[in-house]
Amino acid sequence: MLVTLEGIDGTGKSTLLAGLQPLLADLDPVYTREPGATWVGEAVRRAIAEQTDPVCEATLFVADHAAHLAAVVRPALAEHRLVISDRYSDSRFAYQSVTLDGVIPEPERWLRAMHDGWSVVPDKTFLLVIPVDDALARLSTKSGREHFERRDVLEKVQNRYLEYARVEPDRFVIVDALLDKDEVARFVADGIRQVVAEGKRHKRK
Ligand code: TYD
Repeated sequence: MLVTLEGIDGTGKSTLLAGLQPLLADLDPVYTREPGATWVGEAVRRAIAEQTDPVCEATLFVADHAAHLAAVVRPALAEHRLVISDRYSDSRFAYQSVTLDGVIPEPERWLRAMHDGWSVVPDKTFLLVIPVDDALARLSTKSGREHFERRDVLEKVQNRYLEYARVEPDRFVIVDALLDKDEVARFVADGIRQVVAEGKRHKRK
């Protein structure tokens, strides 16, 4: 089973991950992330820091995804492990369709076509949603904002995410990221247990 966690910067994904670990210990999940699960992630981090060309940045994110699938996701799924990824393809669809707007025609179609036929679609995606002002307030305590972490960008990125959740209601679960962190962790942990249980039922059929 492949579960992904998505949301704009400042929704508290790192806190959620820390909260999930004790709650899901018995399931022994493989925790992973994009970008940066493999060495390709270093190139991505550099591209983000140096604000390179947006097409270059987008293709590096896709390269990172390919390396991540090959090195981590596919081997773990082949062993029937539960994989929980902090960000995944929906980050690309949401963020890069914004950064590539006006740079290439129909960026989202281009991004989705880049994944078609070889990528692995998540079984469930938990989307952390928060008013952009609250996300920015949480981020302001950190120094050195990335170029994604601007109000207009995050506003558009979150709208993209919400649109995907509307189009694929069976895959997406919307999580109120303003709730207390323990409540968020419990809600997502329960949701993941349900996904695992449904997966097992499915296999028995
Ligand atoms: P991440 O490492 O999750 O953020 P943080 O620095 O808070 O730990 O991701 C770094 C940034 O990259 C984040 O702003 C989201 C962005 N991103 C994309 O634009 N496209 C992608 O495909 C991915 C995976 C991340």
